[in-house]
Amino acid sequence: MSEIRTGLGWDNHRIAPGRPLILGGVTIPSEFGLEGHSDADVLAHAITDAILGAAALGDIGMHFPDTDPRWKGCDSLVFLRHAYELAVERGYHILNVDSTVILERPKLKDYREAIRQRLADTLQLELDRMSVKFKTAEKVGPVGEGRSAEAQAIVTLVRGLSPFRAQTNG
Ligand code: C5P
Ligand code: MG
Repeated sequence: MSEIRTGLGWDNHRIAPGRPLILGGVTIPSEFGLEGHSDADVLAHAITDAILGAAALGDIGMHFPDTDPRWKGCDSLVFLRHAYELAVERGYHILNVDSTVILERPKLKDYREAIRQRLADTLQLELDRMSVKFKTAEKVGPVGEGRSAEAQAIVTLVRGLSPFRAQTNG
């Protein structure tokens, strides 16, 4: 008997000049980046919360408080990997991740494959289980006015059956 769980993640960071723009562990050429205590990787944060949510393990701030100097400037893939390991310790496998970054500019689609690959490597996931989408906010609201970036993620976990084992054994 296997158990399926879903988890939802959302994050928002303010746009700031002179900061790198890092999404899914990939640095995107841009004249501005995102403000935050860590590297402000809004996409990695949303996926981290989705994994934690599916396994009912709290949220990213509970595991990595932004008041802790250890996480200052931290590579957010560390957070993502930690959430994944907590889920694996509890017997979960990731079935798939879907995500959306909402950012007015720059255009991100040329970086889609690099971002998917980086996230799939971090989560030990086959590439076709890792989806990354991009949207503008059509010039409306804080994202549309170029003041912030958002990311949303949904993760499906399965416990009691390895999707990878199920595949290799036919
Ligand atoms: O927001 P909109 O529907 O106009 O986006 C159209 C397409 O532009 C998206 O499906 C996505 O492929 C791409 N896009 C992008 N980088 C962004 C926003 C959108 O590559 N920052
Ligand atoms: Mg964040």
